[in-house]
Amino acid sequence: MNVRQFDSYEAMSRYAAFSVATQIRQKPDSVLGLATGSTPIGLYDGLAQLYQEGLISFRRVTTFNLDEYYGLPAEHPESYHAFMKRYLFSKVDIPAAQTHLMDGCAKDPAEECRRYDAAITAAGGLDLQVLGIGFDGHIGFNEPGDSFAVDCHLVQLDPSTLAANARFFGGDPAKVPASALTMGLRCIMGARHILLLCNGPEKHAILKQAIGGPVRPEVPASILQLHPNVDVLFF
Ligand code: PGA
Repeated sequence: MNVRQFDSYEAMSRYAAFSVATQIRQKPDSVLGLATGSTPIGLYDGLAQLYQEGLISFRRVTTFNLDEYYGLPAEHPESYHAFMKRYLFSKVDIPAAQTHLMDGCAKDPAEECRRYDAAITAAGGLDLQVLGIGFDGHIGFNEPGDSFAVDCHLVQLDPSTLAANARFFGGDPAKVPASALTMGLRCIMGARHILLLCNGPEKHAILKQAIGGPVRPEVPASILQLHPNVDVLFF
């Protein structure tokens, strides 16, 4: 793992944007795994700016998002479909057909998960995966458990995740969808390069466990210690 500390969120985001931009310049048809939440907003702003400046194009890029709330339609303002449009897809030249998120309203979530895993495999796997880290050590919505969840799956969100995300739902954890569809750890670990961004000092304790503690399913991000090409960025 390469671990880098920055002075600020802005400096971390700038570095992350240059890393993703380098990937796209080296391989214009890159397959990117993308994240949502507060963490990557600065990274997406940076990418939009590099696109505006003519330094990168998303015309041949394909994206797969990590997760989506279960039960929220794509049109809901707090869906991750809406998030991605707002912060990245509407600002760059990526064709909509090359952006992939799970359908939060899929009638058969198991089937939707199989479809998603198969689509990522068919695309050749992920060249670069962007990750945030949850207060409970989740990556994507792979919550702490008794074993590592390998495949895309429907997950009950941890109470700490519901509390953390309540800010997007009027401050009420009861309004946050209780479950979500998430990419599993096999896909994430299969990415050829991983950028893990840690959003601030309040997450240092869980980051320390993830990168310096034992590898265990109670801290899902700890599995990244077994990956050969991870950049950990924090401030
Ligand atoms: P945040 O959370 O980006 O909203 O800080 C990241 C996560 O929970 O994965």
